[in-house]
Amino acid sequence: MTDTGTSGRERPIVIVGASLGGAKAAEALREAGYRGGIVLIGEEHERPYERPPLSKGYLQGKSPREKIYVHPPQWYAEHDVTLRLGTGVAAIDPAGHTVTLADDGRVEYAKLLLTTGSVPRRLPVPGADQDGVLSLRRVEDSDRIRAALRPGARIAVIGAGWIGLEVAAAAREAGAEVTVLETLELPLLRVLGREVAQVFADLHRDHGVDLRFGVKVTELTGEGGTVSGVRLADGTTVAADAVVVGIGIAPATGLAEAAGLEVDNGIRTDRHLRTSDPDVYAAGDVANAYHPLFDKHIRVEHWANALNQPQTAARALLGQPDAVYDRIPYFFTDQYDLGAEYVGYVEPDGYDQVVFRGDPATREFIAFWLSGGRVLAGMNVNVWDVTDPIRELVRSRRVVDTKALADPAVPLDAL
Ligand SMILES: Cc1cc2nc3c(=O)[nH]c(=O)nc-3n(C[C@H](O)[C@H](O)[C@H](O)COP(=O)(O)OP(=O)(O)OC[C@H]3O[C@@H](n4cnc5c(N)ncnc54)[C@H](O)[C@@H]3O)c2cc1C
Ligand SMILES: NC(=O)c1ccc[n+]([C@@H]2O[C@H](COP(=O)([O-])OP(=O)(O)OC[C@H]3O[C@@H](n4cnc5c(N)ncnc54)[C@H](O)[C@@H]3O)[C@@H](O)[C@H]2O)c1
Repeated sequence: MTDTGTSGRERPIVIVGASLGGAKAAEALREAGYRGGIVLIGEEHERPYERPPLSKGYLQGKSPREKIYVHPPQWYAEHDVTLRLGTGVAAIDPAGHTVTLADDGRVEYAKLLLTTGSVPRRLPVPGADQDGVLSLRRVEDSDRIRAALRPGARIAVIGAGWIGLEVAAAAREAGAEVTVLETLELPLLRVLGREVAQVFADLHRDHGVDLRFGVKVTELTGEGGTVSGVRLADGTTVAADAVVVGIGIAPATGLAEAAGLEVDNGIRTDRHLRTSDPDVYAAGDVANAYHPLFDKHIRVEHWANALNQPQTAARALLGQPDAVYDRIPYFFTDQYDLGAEYVGYVEPDGYDQVVFRGDPATREFIAFWLSGGRVLAGMNVNVWDVTDPIRELVRSRRVVDTKALADPAVPLDAL
């Protein structure tokens, strides 16, 4: 069966991936004045929601479920957006301008936007499919982890990235015993580098987390199909009532690849978020987009990117030539009483100096990553309302006086 996705109108704009990115794209299309059909298709059964609370307030039971959603339930009908939940897209036919649904139905499109996001990497060791081995992407994953975070429960967290550290903080706050197991020598090492990664290691140690770096997980042990521990290459076993795996994600590129779109660490797009097919666009975690400021393709796995890129994609697919995505990446984290924001873009080993404004030991400071005297990124930790001037420093690419950069008495916008 082929349908137009709406009743008897022109072919609609179809969005695959009903999460933050997809919902924001639908909103942006209406805001841009587009009055044709919009079909938003997602395989999850929940209406579009945001994921950051799933490892923070929602996981801790402090923030209600109602707060995770992008829009109220009636928003979709009110904006004439056909929301097809619990519906996987199985294939795209770019030549026929059609998507095939997992249940064999078809939807034609005029333009297609892919916001398929990403999926957690699975731990490639024996025992990883037992009960009690948990990953975190969807709201139901967060519910399962929350149920495991009981006082005195032994929680092993594999991976000291964003998921691992935020879950470790929630677990400690729930009174659980936490061991974090990480391959590299520090947490968040590839994103933050040694100098600032150390701040996060100290933070978690001070909160009673058993942090183990440079380890290799070889097996998850179990009893009767339920996980009981994590075996390491050095022969030790960490006993666990539950294991949370947060070892990174892979962009969900399967559909795009099968359709013959150019894929390389995500779906490659130009500065307008247009893929190698002129009628197909991509945004959010899945897009490896050309960034004019950095003069390269970058793929950003963060909330602000999924919030903002769809607005550009929506305007671009409506034919607005000035719709170019050149925002500087931004993200935030909350762990215990540490709140931080980061703005900029640094590749691992892509900086030659870190300058601190304030003492990192107090956990109230700004860190700047520089190369050749230019600020590539800044992270404010328990210091607020400085993102705009830091973003401006990054965008300007001017060489700064590092003494003044380190001096809290010098306003950032005077540098
Ligand atoms: C627990 C957690 C906490 C986070 N916290 C933060 C944070 O504090 N700060 C921050 O900056 N970022 C955070 N992030 C990252 C941020 O949530 C992601 O960058 C963002 O969700 C990406 O949005 P997206 O719309 O691109 O993709 P996703 O959120 O991955 O959504 C993609 C959707 O597409 C659907 N889909 C995929 N393939 C198909 C198909 N073939 N057919 C139909 N539907 C399909 C998926 O089921 C999914 O619903 C967090 C992520 C997680 C998991
Ligand atoms: N505050 C935030 O911005 C935030 C919060 C939560 C999640 N997220 C996003 O969610 C996604 C998933 O987060 P994540 O923490 O899983 O990924 P990540 O990429 O942030 O961290 C993965 C960590 O796992 C380690 N690792 C990889 N393989 C391992 C192994 N076999 N054993 C032990 N350690 C191993 C890596 O060295 C790395 O430190 C990312 O896109 C992330 O940006 C963001």
